[in-house]
Amino acid sequence: MEQSYVFYNGDIIEEEKVSIDIRSKAFNYGLACFEGIRAYWDEENQQLSLFRVREHYERLLQSCRALYIKLPYTVDDLVNATIELLKKNNFKTTTYIRPIAYKGSTNIGPTLLDDDDRILIYCSPLGSYTGKDELKVKVTSWTRLSDNMLPPRTKASAAYLNSALASLDVKINGYDEAIFLTDTGSVCEGPGENIFIVRKGKLITPPPSDNILEGITRETVMELARDVLGMEVVERSVKRTELYACDEAFFSGTAMEITPICEIDDRPVPGGINGEVYKKIKALFDKITLGKLEGYEHYSTPVYDK
Ligand SMILES: Cc1ncc(COP(=O)(O)O)c(C=O)c1O
Repeated sequence: MEQSYVFYNGDIIEEEKVSIDIRSKAFNYGLACFEGIRAYWDEENQQLSLFRVREHYERLLQSCRALYIKLPYTVDDLVNATIELLKKNNFKTTTYIRPIAYKGSTNIGPTLLDDDDRILIYCSPLGSYTGKDELKVKVTSWTRLSDNMLPPRTKASAAYLNSALASLDVKINGYDEAIFLTDTGSVCEGPGENIFIVRKGKLITPPPSDNILEGITRETVMELARDVLGMEVVERSVKRTELYACDEAFFSGTAMEITPICEIDDRPVPGGINGEVYKKIKALFDKITLGKLEGYEHYSTPVYDK
């Protein structure tokens, strides 16, 4: 494997030079938050473009605020660091970027008040997240964290135990992905992605008040559906059995991108990979992520100087 570089507290250095203290609060208590960003490789133009990178760093700093993690960087600093990091790694393929802000303090006890906050950014090539064209999903018996337990609006590392348990629950039973319900029984999201359904020509997705992460891909899908396709987009609570009545369903997320669902709780979803709305959104998404959708070029940040 080629030498991999990471951004660590202000410098770009070889990955093997970074070590995390075994006593750190990030490791012991999960006191950390992170982001997942994609940079898309455009073979035709030999360019790598970060997709909505500013929004990802705005969300990271918002997560840091909620978790009392103090970083001496602005959104611009982090965007520039990411561009430099990708250049240094010389990636010429679609890449996933993972910034993690964390509590480096090694004192015993899960306090957020200690100093020694750090940030690390690493990246690796990532094509399809699931390796599948369409997914068989199952509602998990694990409940999504609610806002007053652990803020779902942040990408707090500790919250991903909830995600991992849900994934385990369904994957060991042969399904591809889980769907969480909220503590009040509404459809929430997947372990690392938001969910959309289509019913009678309307695009429907659960609202932030149903404990979802406010996904950047979700926001992009809503914008494309409303402004480019002229569809009615509705943010409202969805109950479990409405999933059985939908015409189409798909997930959205940075890692997951736009992936159709063909089965929910062993019931077929009629559209699946051939769903008309899914196909239109996917085609637009493939353009927007390369900076090739007219009017949306500003969502792309090129990495290499031309
Ligand atoms: C729990 C959860 N929901 C939704 C998403 C999708 O968010 P985004 O589209 O910003 O990647 C993610 C991924 O970051 C996630 O971890």
